[in-house]
Amino acid sequence: MKGIILAGGTGSRLMPLTKVTNKHLLPVGHVPMIFHPLQKLTQAGIENILIVTGTDHMGDVVGLLGSGKDFNCNITYKVQDEAGGIAQALALAENFCHDESMTVILGDNIFEDDIYGAVQSFGTDKGAKIFLKEVTHPERFGVAELDGERVVAIEEKPSNPKSNMAVCGIYMFDKSVFRIIRTLKPSGRGELEITDVNNAYIQENLMRYEELKGWWTDAGTFESLAHAQKLVDPNYGGGE
Ligand code: DAU
Repeated sequence: MKGIILAGGTGSRLMPLTKVTNKHLLPVGHVPMIFHPLQKLTQAGIENILIVTGTDHMGDVVGLLGSGKDFNCNITYKVQDEAGGIAQALALAENFCHDESMTVILGDNIFEDDIYGAVQSFGTDKGAKIFLKEVTHPERFGVAELDGERVVAIEEKPSNPKSNMAVCGIYMFDKSVFRIIRTLKPSGRGELEITDVNNAYIQENLMRYEELKGWWTDAGTFESLAHAQKLVDPNYGGGE
């Protein structure tokens, strides 16, 4: 199993904090944001990790994480020239993954659950797995439509969500993800969408899901970044 952290994008919703640095280098708790997904992957027993980021701040990301030896892993880097979407960033991982399956974490997703069990049990399985969490504002996320134990469809930021179950930025895929990405067309916002990838697995009857038990948030807006701080460090903002 390979690990992938997608840390590109423009960080436009956090301007001007992201004018001269990458969103994933901003602090969450006592560490840069990207430490959190990295720690989740290494705790899950994943040793080989690819980090994808844009041209603007690749040097800073490499300066921060280096070869990975301080984190007990091997880190490889790939440049995404333009922010063409999460699925476009993931396509850059094809050579890195060879035929192995992968766990992908979006660099701004911060969560409590330990994914060791899920990573180990996915192993060399065919298909894909997503992680869901009940939220109060599903319209900000990919939203899963469920029928009992089955995900029927996912809608990206729907104005009338069919459930309160957000699709978290944690995904497990087999190697066919790269074949699927090659079939995608850019969405209305001009991006190759991870939601289209997940819907393709649903169509092929190869999608499973798990609900996260602990807290989860992204940290891509001012509100969610502040929320992430409090979740990671409950005393945040409480002292002198
Ligand atoms: O946080 C979970 C949500 O993340 C999911 O529920 C949505 O289905 C999924 O589309 C995504 O939504 P966002 O609109 O919040 O994604 P955002 O554009 O903020 O990108 C999330 C991360 O993905 C970002 O921290 C870095 C990475 N990324 C994004 C883009 C657009 C890249 O590496 N390259 C990119 O081109």
